[in-house]
Amino acid sequence: MPIPEQRPFSPPPGSGSTRRPPPISLGDLSLVRALGEGGLGAVALTQLHRECSHPLELRAPLFATKYVRKKETKETEWDDDAKERAALARLPWNPYVGSLVSVHEDDVNRYLHLELLPCGSLHQLVRTVGPLSTSAARFYFANIVCALDHIHRSGYVHRDVKPDNILMGRDGYLCMIDFSFTKKEEEDDAKDWVGIGTPVYKPPEVVREDLDGEFGRGIDWWAAGCVLYEMLTAWHVYVGCDDDRVHARILKGKFKYPKGVEVDPDARDLISRLLDQTPANRLGRNGTEEVMRHPFLSGIDWCKMKRRQYAAPFVPRDLDPVNMHHHAAMPKQEAVPGLHIERPPLHRRFEDIAEDDETDPRVRKKRRLAR
Ligand SMILES: Nc1ncnc2c1ncn2[C@@H]1O[C@H](COP(=O)(O)OP(=O)(O)O)[C@@H](O)[C@H]1O
Ligand SMILES: [Mg+2]
Repeated sequence: MPIPEQRPFSPPPGSGSTRRPPPISLGDLSLVRALGEGGLGAVALTQLHRECSHPLELRAPLFATKYVRKKETKETEWDDDAKERAALARLPWNPYVGSLVSVHEDDVNRYLHLELLPCGSLHQLVRTVGPLSTSAARFYFANIVCALDHIHRSGYVHRDVKPDNILMGRDGYLCMIDFSFTKKEEEDDAKDWVGIGTPVYKPPEVVREDLDGEFGRGIDWWAAGCVLYEMLTAWHVYVGCDDDRVHARILKGKFKYPKGVEVDPDARDLISRLLDQTPANRLGRNGTEEVMRHPFLSGIDWCKMKRRQYAAPFVPRDLDPVNMHHHAAMPKQEAVPGLHIERPPLHRRFEDIAEDDETDPRVRKKRRLAR
């Protein structure tokens, strides 16, 4: 059944408001907690504080702000955030993809303000409660299929599908993030396709660095197969003590299931079809429908899944991202000059005391004792 188009928002008659609230300015945002570290920057929770009476404006909305140091992108010539920004700006909105809300820059950083997905990553979920049940893994895998369907239909390949880049929203559904390696599928300059990605999730054609290889959406389906294996076993498909060992095992192509872990036969079949060494034979290569029709997913009503009408296996409750205990140190003000840092109260601070934070009484006490 086709999904009906959503009606665009129209302002109440006579309200005089425009279709959207006014754009966000960097000075209206406060940085309230650190969320994650990245290669060239970090991700932080930010909150908008401004007086705005637009009917669509939420009260003090939260964002995940990814900031990347401009100096380092220049030095390393890795302009990942510019690529991510370009891909996110061109991808049509979809609930399975963490969207870009706004962008800013100051003298030090470029900032991407993203939709906040506050309930942790699939990686954390698998590490804390994995292996997942067959039905939970089926639901989460179906979320990944919806995300890839949208990305591929829009002409892109994500190229870094892995549990750290799949986050949970408040409704318990998963969303794909981190579009720094995303690429248009039609751009077929082979040298841009090889070597990219995270070692344990790379398919053989990328590991082999064979410039005559067939590159494209098969890269994402291979990684999706690795993620399904990981959800059902809490192990990686191909492991090794270093990247070379992992790459050698990927090229050999043999994998086993850990002893004592029961894996559904249909799930095993799907994993082996997604982990096909030949990209042209890999399931999903000719369209997402191939994957959707697989017996492991045959009970899913895809129209219902795309509308998010299934009950998620786990729905986080009473989550208050601002007032939780901090699990990482806040950045220093000079690292994010454009944002106002709102320091948390002492009892919620990350234990690792910033040695030069004069406002922290623990630091002052430590210094007094050292004298
Ligand atoms: N939209 C978001 N909502 C909540 N946390 C996020 C969001 N985006 C990123 N993060 C956190 O920041 C981490 C790094 O973000 P990511 O975009 O993957 O950066 P990198 O390119 O450095 O891997 C994620 O693993 C997650 O913990
Ligand atoms: Mg990432």
